[in-house]
Formats: sequence, C-alpha cells, structure tokens
Amino acid sequence: FFVVAVQNTLAVMKGSDVDVSLLSNIVYSVTEESSPGTTVGNLAKDLHLDVQETLSSRKARVDFEGTRKRYCDMKLNTGDLVTSEIIDRESLCGKKPSCVLKVDLVLENPLELHHVSLHIQDVNDNSPKFRENLIEIEISESAEKGNRFSIEQAHDADIGQNAVQRYNLQKNDNFILAVNNNKLELVLENKLDREKQKELNLLLTALDGGSPQRSGTVVIHVTVLDANDNAPVFSQAVYKASLPENSPPDTVVIKVSATDADEGVNGDVTYQFGHVPDEDVNVFSIDPKTGEIRVTGVIDFEERSSFEISVQAKDGLGLTSYAKVIIDVTDINDNAPLIYLKSLTNPIPENVSPGTEVGIINVQDEDSENNRQVRCSIQQNVPFKLVPSIKNYYSLVTTGQLDRELVSDYNITITATDKGSPPLSSSKTVQLSVADINDNPPVFEEQSYSAYVTENNKPGSTLCSVSARDPDWRQNGTVIYSLLPGEVNGAPVSSYLSVNGDTGVIHAVRSFDYEQFRSFKVHVMARDNGSPPLSSNVTVSVFISDVNDNSPQILYPGPEGNSFMTELVPKAAHGGSLVSKVIAVDADSGQNAWLSYHIVKSSDTGLFSIGVHSGEIRTQRDISESDSMKQNLIVSVKDNGQPSLSATCSMYLLISDNLAEVPELKDISYDEKNSKLTSYLIIALVSVSTFFLTFIIIILGVRFCRRRKPRLLFDGAVAIPSAYLPPNYADVDGTGTLRSTYNYDAYLTTGSRTSDFKFVTSYNDNTLPTRMRVFTFIKLSLNFINRV
Ligand SMILES: *[C@@H]1O[C@H](CO)[C@@H](O)[C@H](O)[C@H]1NC(C)=O
Ligand SMILES: *[C@@H]1O[C@H](CO)[C@@H](O)[C@H](O)[C@H]1NC(C)=O
Ligand SMILES: *[C@@H]1O[C@H](CO)[C@@H](O)[C@H](O)[C@H]1NC(C)=O
Repeated sequence: FFVVAVQNTLAVMKGSDVDVSLLSNIVYSVTEESSPGTTVGNLAKDLHLDVQETLSSRKARVDFEGTRKRYCDMKLNTGDLVTSEIIDRESLCGKKPSCVLKVDLVLENPLELHHVSLHIQDVNDNSPKFRENLIEIEISESAEKGNRFSIEQAHDADIGQNAVQRYNLQKNDNFILAVNNNKLELVLENKLDREKQKELNLLLTALDGGSPQRSGTVVIHVTVLDANDNAPVFSQAVYKASLPENSPPDTVVIKVSATDADEGVNGDVTYQFGHVPDEDVNVFSIDPKTGEIRVTGVIDFEERSSFEISVQAKDGLGLTSYAKVIIDVTDINDNAPLIYLKSLTNPIPENVSPGTEVGIINVQDEDSENNRQVRCSIQQNVPFKLVPSIKNYYSLVTTGQLDRELVSDYNITITATDKGSPPLSSSKTVQLSVADINDNPPVFEEQSYSAYVTENNKPGSTLCSVSARDPDWRQNGTVIYSLLPGEVNGAPVSSYLSVNGDTGVIHAVRSFDYEQFRSFKVHVMARDNGSPPLSSNVTVSVFISDVNDNSPQILYPGPEGNSFMTELVPKAAHGGSLVSKVIAVDADSGQNAWLSYHIVKSSDTGLFSIGVHSGEIRTQRDISESDSMKQNLIVSVKDNGQPSLSATCSMYLLISDNLAEVPELKDISYDEKNSKLTSYLIIALVSVSTFFLTFIIIILGVRFCRRRKPRLLFDGAVAIPSAYLPPNYADVDGTGTLRSTYNYDAYLTTGSRTSDFKFVTSYNDNTLPTRMRVFTFIKLSLNFINRV
C-alpha cells in the first residue's frame, strides 16, 4: 500500500480524479482492502503532540461523522492511526471519483478538534463484468455495411485506470468494434449472408487499465434474419429525476420512453433495467410496457443520495438501445439530532469553581443542510450551561458555586433541535452528582451550655449533654466530642469532667465541693471526621449549688473545756454593755451559712443576752453585788439550712474589776493552805516569768536595734488566737455572720502555723476593749501557770 501524510500543505493527490485539497488539516491516504491494523499515519507526530502525556490524559480519540461504522482507531501509546476493518472503496463511495473518509481527532481539556481526511485509494479489485454472459442479437441479412448495433457496456466497480479501458473483439469476417462517447457498438463491415452463415458467435472482452489487468468477456450470439429492422430510440440519452426520500413504494419516479420506427411486433418496445448495482436491485422497478420507473424499496437519503440506472429498450426482434436514468434523492428532515455524551466528570466535587467544564457533548444530525443545523440547550434553574465549542461540540460548564448540602444531584436535560421544517428535537438527561467536601464545621445547637449540679454529687453522674450538627456527608459529617485541655483550680479538666465522644453527654468524674469552687468553665470541642477535620468549640459552664454540709464553726470562744476562754466583766458594767462576742463561721453559703446565736443555758438567766445574728453578748441589766462572780453561758450557733446544723460553745464570764480577784478564779473547793501555797508559787513563778520575759525582751531589743528599721508589731492590739482564723478571713459582714472563702478546708489542714498568737490590728475594737485584752493576756498566762 501507499501512504501519504501531508499536513497544512497542498496535497496533490494522485491522478486527475482527486482535487487539489487546500486544507488546514491532515490528509492521509490509504489503499482500500488494506488489512485491519494497517498504520495510516502518526497523528501524534503530525500534530506535534506528546504521546506519553497528552494523548491519554487529554482522552484523545477519533470520531466519525455520519457513518455508523468505525473504520479506524488511534493507538494511544504510539499516536498511530490504524485501520480497524477492511475498507471497501466501492461500497463506501461507489463510482465517486474521490473517496474521502472524514475523521475527527478529539482532544479534551481544552477541547480540540482536528480534521483528518482519509483518502481511500482504489485498487484494481474488480474485474470488468458484462451483465449477461450471452448477448443475443438478431440482424437481418439485408443490413447495410456500416450499420451499428448497440452492445451494453461492461461494468467495473473500480474507478479511473482500474475501470474499463478498452474492448477487444474476437477476429471475425463481418464486424468490428466502435467505442466512442461511452457507447459500444458493433459495426457491420461486411454484409451478412444468411445462406452462407445462419448465426455466428463473437467473443467480446472488456479490459481495465489496472495492474495486473483484469478482464471480463461476453459472447455475442448473432442470428442472421431474413428481414431488416429499426432499433428502438430513447427520447433522451439521460433522464434526470428528483425523488424525495422516504417516498412510499409505488411512487412513480420517472417515465422513460423509446420509439421504434417499425410497425407491428417490430415496433413493440419493452423496457427493462440494464446494469444495476447489486444493492439497488430491489429499490426500483420498471414497467416493461409503459417505461414507468417506480419505487419498490426504501429510499433513504442518508444511505444513498443518488442512483444511476441504465435502462434498456428492446423491440420485438431483439434490437436494443440504452439510456441512463439519474435519480437524485432530496433530503427530508427525518432524522432527529443525536446527542452524544463524549465525556463527563461525575461526581463533581462541590468546591469546583464556577466555569469548570464537567462534560463534553456532541450533537449530530444525519440530515443535510438546514435539516442538519442543530441548536442545543439545557433547562434553566440549574447552575450549569452549555457553551458551544468547535463545530457540533458543546461544553457543559458550571455557572455557580455548587453546594452538596443544598442540592446533591442534578438531572440535566439537554435538548437538541434542528432547523428543519418541521424541526425535530431530541433530548438526553445527564445525571450529575455532587461529591462532598468537608466544608462545614460542626455547629453546636446552642451558643453555650450550662450545667447545674448540687455538690456531693456521685462521680459519673450526668451533668448535661452538648450536641453539634454537621451537614456534610458520612465521615465529613460525623461529629466527635472531646474536652479541650485546660485547668480548673490547677488540675486538668479531665479530672473533673468527661464527655462521651459519640453522644456529647457530659459526666462528672468526681464529686464536687461547693466550698471549694462554685462554678467553672470547660470547653468542649466538636470535630468532624473529615480530612482535614473541621471543628468548633463551645463553653460549658458548670454551676455547683450548695448543700448544707458544713456545721457552723465557732472561732471564738474556742472548743469547750478550754478554760483560756474566760471573759472579765467589769463590775460597773451597765445594762446593755457589750461583754463579749461569739464568732462563728459556716463554710456553706446563703441560708446554709446564715447563722443565728442563742443562749441555751446560763447560770443566771436574765443577766446576759446574745444578739441573734451578731453573736454579741451584752448585759441585760446593771451588775449588782449579789450577782455571782462566775457566770457560765452555753451558746448554740445554728445555720439556717434544711436541716439546720449547729454547734455549741461555753463561755466563762468573770465579774471582776482587778487582778487581785483573779485567784477567785480557782475552784472554790481549794482549801486555804493550798491557796496560800499556790500564791507563793504564783509569785515565784511570776517573778521567774517576769525575769525571763525581761530577758527575752532585752535580747529581742538588742536584735531589733541591730536591724536598721526595727518595728514592733506588738502594739497592744492583741486579738484572737489566730490558729482558729481561716487564712482568708474576711470582715464581719452586716448580718454578723463571718464569710469565709472557699479554702476553708485548706485552713483546717494547715499545720504550718506554729504561732499561738496573731496580732490583727484591724480587728474590731468594739468587741474587746484594749484594757480587757491586756487582762486576757495576763489571765491566760496565769491560767497556764496554774495548770503547770
Ligand atoms: C433524577 O432522575 C432520577 C431517575 O430518573 C430520579 O430517581 C431522581 O430523583 C432525579 N433527581 C432529581 C434531583 O430530580
Ligand atoms: C470528605 O471530604 C473530602 C475533602 O474535604 C473528600 O475528599 C472526601 O471524599 C469526602 N468524603 C466523603 C465520604 O464524601
Ligand atoms: C475555641 O473557640 C474560640 C472562640 O471561638 C477560639 O478562639 C479558639 O481558638 C477555639 N479553640 C480551639 C482549640 O479550637
């Protein structure tokens, strides 16, 4: 075979039967009957395309227009265009002088179309053929020298040189052959003599110009008759008719007629078809009597747009003549456009930018001219449009942002309408799904969450639950909850709370103590399972409510039995004088810490009263001589909780004005002697102590003097034994109740406080007059000595 590849140039095809093609496309040439797989040309090379990358990534492929067969294919790995079946030029193009197969090379992204014209070269694969093996002619012996007798020409499906070129008549005495103007005639050279030869056989050979040469023969059997005659004569050498396609059977196409000058049987003309290609045999019929040609088969413009038929007129004596009938089929808009989906990206990720090409559509209409013009459209209200591309290609592109959470799939109906009259249309529905992208973070249903829990809760109890929604698909929308790391009171939040990752239910990990803290905040994160994951967080505030789980703590006086706690009451005290104050705190809060004071027992009812909320002990009347020197009170302190908790303390009061009376403190059961001895002992001890104290003061003095800025805290404002005061001890509030801070526990366990005394200058002076404090100090010392 013979292959020519011409690109962007003038392609001068072999012989005069092929036009000079000025095409800005690729022209290849292939001989017919080449075996499948024959390489026609290398498209990659001729288009300067990179074989490895471009061809497959751009989905290169060949498309055919109009025909339903695929004649060739492209090898993606080499870029070769190869035939995929045997191409028979004769069935494809018939007698057309040039046989061109149009092939489109389609590349996507961007869409690119290259025309490839495949010229099918003829090979001499058909021999000249006469319609019959034997031609009968009857010639009168009176026929004159030079008379001509038509013979039907031989037919050769090939074209050009491969078609019939010449005829050869076997040597004989009477006839020679005349070939001109596409007419084949026997010319009588020597008169026939029936008496000498009644009949004769002539061998006629038709030869084509192919190489190797092919030939066909026919035997012409001449019967010599007695009489002479005229052959029929057609009214036209060529008849032309135009026939709309789809004409029903029996439609008269044209009527041919031939006349014969003879009379009688010799003038009876009958008609029949001469050479008819095999495929046209059943399409038309000819009425032998009238010469009417009628439709008997299917006329499809798309299959055959014209027919060429030879008709024969024969008179009764067998003289014939021939004419040609050319029937042009006219197009009717009988083919709806066809929509081909050439490529489609499905599903489309929802984050593609507007204007992304998601599909390529090709429309074809087999009709011609206007019937072939196609308009394409898609329905409104979808974020897609059709963009006309080259020729009959359209790109389906997005026009807006897609959101799977709003619309997850589209049915796009593409409608193609041709411009025929009436127009035909067809439609095709393309289903497109939108693929998920993790573009939505989980969103909590509430801005923040609050949980209320009463203290002393059980570990593991449920506090509340949080919930977040994520509209994404599958794992991109699966929400997992977790606690964000953080600290509450210096401890990791996870030691307080836990959250169920799947349900968002929050549990307490430990029992909470309102007295330690009343509320805290944690952050809970909701995260989806996408990659990368998206998250959001929310604040959960936990409010702990109080339970009356702490009894009042009496700070002053100290625990029962501690005889340090004795108050001196001046004898001259008037009614209403403040004598002492019971100080108590309650670690709870609110009603649970609202304390009330009551005297539950006193040695002289009516002498002292206590402020229900202040805890102040006052004389109710003036002290009189008859009052006992020693007074005992038992005070109960209750909180207001449900049920209420209480504490009691004893208070020892001594009605006395001076220290001399101090010995009377002793138990009355002591005898005189004993007391005298004790007095000495006391004096001795006081002396020793005084000496000792003086000594210490001197030492301290010396030490302080050494320091630059000596500062004596011992400014006389003595107060409460500090060991009983919480470190963050607050002032007495309006209700007379002492508020403590939450670290009450801490205070209870503090062991580092070794000093027995603390000098609190801010302490309310009303409660204990300075004078009394000095007394108290001495009194305490004496009590100490006494015990010793
Ligand atoms: C698209 O068409 C299919 C099948 O005809 C149907 O099941 C589906 O519901 C349609 N979708 C939309 C969004 O109309
Ligand atoms: C989730 O989103 C990612 C991109 O964010 C995507 O690649 C993946 O296919 C999505 N998963 C599902 C199940 O849709
Ligand atoms: C939690 O949310 C806050 C406010 O919305 C933000 O500032 C912070 O970065 C978030 N933390 C995490 C770990 O996502």
